[in-house]
Parts: sequence; structure tokens; C-alpha cells
Amino acid sequence: MSTNLSIHATRRARVARQLGDGGIAVIPTAPEHLRNRDNPFAFRHDSYFYYLSGFTEPNAWLVLDAEGRSTLFCQPKNLEREIWDGIRLGPETAPGALGVDEAFSFDELDQRLPKLLENRASVWFPFATHDGLPTRIDGWLRQVRARARQGVLAPETQRDLCAVLDEMRLFKDAHELALIRRAAQISAAAHVRAMQRSARMLRAGQEVREYHLEAELLHEFRQHGAQAPAYGSIVAAGANACVLHYRADAASVRAGELVLIDAGCELDGYASDITRTFPADGKFTGPQRELYQLTLAAQQAAIAAVRPGARFNDLHAAAVKVLTQGMIDLKLIDRNQHGTLDDAIANRAYFAHYMHRTSHWLGMDVHDCGSYVEPTEAEQTSERRDPLSGESVIERPSRILHPGMVLTIEPGLYVRPSEKTPSHFWNIGIRIEDDAVVTDEGCELMTRAVPVEPDTIEALMAD
Ligand code: GLY
Ligand code: MN
Ligand code: MN
Repeated sequence: MSTNLSIHATRRARVARQLGDGGIAVIPTAPEHLRNRDNPFAFRHDSYFYYLSGFTEPNAWLVLDAEGRSTLFCQPKNLEREIWDGIRLGPETAPGALGVDEAFSFDELDQRLPKLLENRASVWFPFATHDGLPTRIDGWLRQVRARARQGVLAPETQRDLCAVLDEMRLFKDAHELALIRRAAQISAAAHVRAMQRSARMLRAGQEVREYHLEAELLHEFRQHGAQAPAYGSIVAAGANACVLHYRADAASVRAGELVLIDAGCELDGYASDITRTFPADGKFTGPQRELYQLTLAAQQAAIAAVRPGARFNDLHAAAVKVLTQGMIDLKLIDRNQHGTLDDAIANRAYFAHYMHRTSHWLGMDVHDCGSYVEPTEAEQTSERRDPLSGESVIERPSRILHPGMVLTIEPGLYVRPSEKTPSHFWNIGIRIEDDAVVTDEGCELMTRAVPVEPDTIEALMAD
């Protein structure tokens, strides 16, 4: 078996061992979607399906049983369709190519699935990711139950396969880490390219639009073989940076303003996720640099909090502490209203300027799967009242970090015009985001080929 084959076979075997006696699992790939009329969106496989098969064609299903048997349903060979849409692997070739035990045309799914579900104790499938899947499974189970008088038993339990797969996917293996590192490198080079183009065009007196910088990102992604952006690229000039889900649009990029780019490529199914904020013409103003240094200090505090045994929430707490103290010092938070640093944190006074979390898991999906609650302590609940909404919130202990977990570290600071804030900070939005893998000692930052220090950014953009 080739390395890739054995990776997926090993994962399938690990799933099989967790299905329990008589368990069977059904995992479809993603559906195809039309963009308009007969014109489809680019197909992107389902991450769970790909994790277990390495197969990227649409109209495919994987069935695994507790005895370790794997069955693939895929598109049949069809000369006419292949002339239009491209080569299909086909069920005849699939076992050799993918290491599954057997393969059939997906046209046979409705006929074969009831048979595969017969006399099984439980059926597992992803509960949350496929509209209509529970109904489809129910239909097959109805057919199994209809054969009860022939002595056929139907599964009595339906279980969420996400619970098993999320936990596996949270810990990245060497193959996955190599892909994430490479995606990170490509994305870092794309950010460098966009920064340099911004400064170069403004120096030449040319008009720069957000889409010019997005074009640089896309060029670099494809130039190095990445298939697509891992999410909609954010290229936000000036005040647009204060809109958290802004997309690259047509606004002018002006000298004297900052540009926030949050963009990363997807390479062979794995995402990267980088944010850099830089002066459009390559030179920070005084107020921009003050807020930038504060955000960077918050990121450094969060990075220092990443190590095995620490909790996922420790990163956020570390970033919030630095940001809140800085907001008090820079008069973005009113000391008279909020008192001490501890009061300002307890009251979530920072929320006006820092309203998102500091981290999320990263992997095949940009906001990757994996529980943020420590599974060994999930029963331990505590209750607190949220100071802003007044609502009661049930909390569970945050996830303990272990080597092989991959996460982003992305504090931000956003100042909208308000009589409560000094006007020289208005419309500045900053976020600095890197991708990290937890190591035995702490963490490895995979995205630092694009600099974060303001002096280094200025030097890079002067070049
Ligand atoms: N680009 C999405 C995020 O940073 O979470
Ligand atoms: Mn992110
Ligand atoms: Mn991001």
C-alpha cells in the first residue's frame, strides 16, 4: 500500500474499532451545488469523507463496519460524462486505488444500503453536516424493519459519527502537519506579495483598490498549486477593517491608512488562515503603530500561553489581559467608569473594541472540528452571569492542549468613531493572526514567513 493509501486505511481501521459490536457507519461526501442555471460551484469534497478516503469525486459514499470492512459507492465510468466532466475513477478501479474492500456505483446505493444495515446493532453517521441525511437513513431503516418477520434485525441505535471523527481530526498526524505547513508557507508568501504591491503602486502614484491586492493573493495561491482560498479573502482598506466579515471589494487603498488582509489558501484539502495589518504605503503613523504594538503584545502573550497542559481559553485570557490594560492606558476604556484592570476584564469592557475570540482549531476546515470542552471534565459545570447581556451562562472546563493540535492565534483591536474614544484612533482596525501547532515545549508558528514586527513590515514594503 502506498503511504497515502495506508494513511486512510489506518484512519478507517481506527473508526471501525470505535463503532462497537455490530456498528456500521455511513459517510457521504458533499453535495454538488448549482451557482446559477446549469453552472455549478466548484466542487469541494466533504472533509470527513476525504479524511477517511482521500477521494475527491462528487456523488460518493463510504460505508465502514465494526469488523473493518469498507465499501465505497462512487460514480460509474461513463464515456460521455467523462468527455464533459473529466475522468472518473469508477468502482472497478476504486479498491486498488483507494484500498477499500469493495466498490459499487452510487446508483446502487438505495438498493444495497438496506442490505448493509440488516442485523446491525447501531448505525453511525455525521449528524450535523448533511441536510437530508437522517431522512435518507430513516428510509433505508424502514426497509430493514419491513423485513422483521423474516427474522431481520434493524439497528436500534443511531449515533453521531462526528463525535468520533472530530476527536481524531483534532490531533494532526505528520502527513497533515506537512500539508498545513506548506499551505501556511504559500499563504505567507501571498501576504508578502500583497503588501509589496500596495506600497509599490502607491509609490508610483497609481490607484490601488482592494481587488488589486486580492489578485496578488490568488496569484500566489495558484502559482504554488493551492487549489483555492480556504475561505473568502478579507482585504479591508481603512475603516473597512472594523467590519469583521468584510470581503475583498473595490474600495480605494489610500496612503496613510492601514490595510487588513485575512486570507489563506487550501492545499490538498488543508487550510491556512493568516491575518496581517499593514500601512498601505509602507509607513505606520503614530496612532496606528501604538494600536499595532498593543495588538502584537497581546498576540505574544497568547503565543506564550500555548503549551501542553495549558487550556484553550488561556490564550484568550492572556490576550484580553494585555489588550484591556492597553485600552485603559490609551483611553479607549474609561478608567473612571471601569476601575481596575480586573474590573474592566470582569465587566468585559474590552468587548467594544475586541469582540471575537483569540483562537480556533485549524485543519481541513478553517474553523476546524474538535470540542473546545475538555472531554475528561465535561461533567463539571459552573454558572456565571454575563455582565453585558445579563444572561446566565453554563461553562465547562476548557480543552487541555496537547502536541499535534493546530490552532490560530488572532487577537484584534477595532476602533469605530465614538465620542468615548480619542479621535486619532478612529477607524483603525487591526488583527494579527498566525497558525500554530502545539509541540512538546510550547508551539511552532507556521506562518511567520510573513513578518509581524512593524519595523520589519516597513522594511519589507520599502524594498
Ligand atoms: N478567517 C476566518 C478567521 O480568521 O477565523
Ligand atoms: Mn482564524
Ligand atoms: Mn483569519
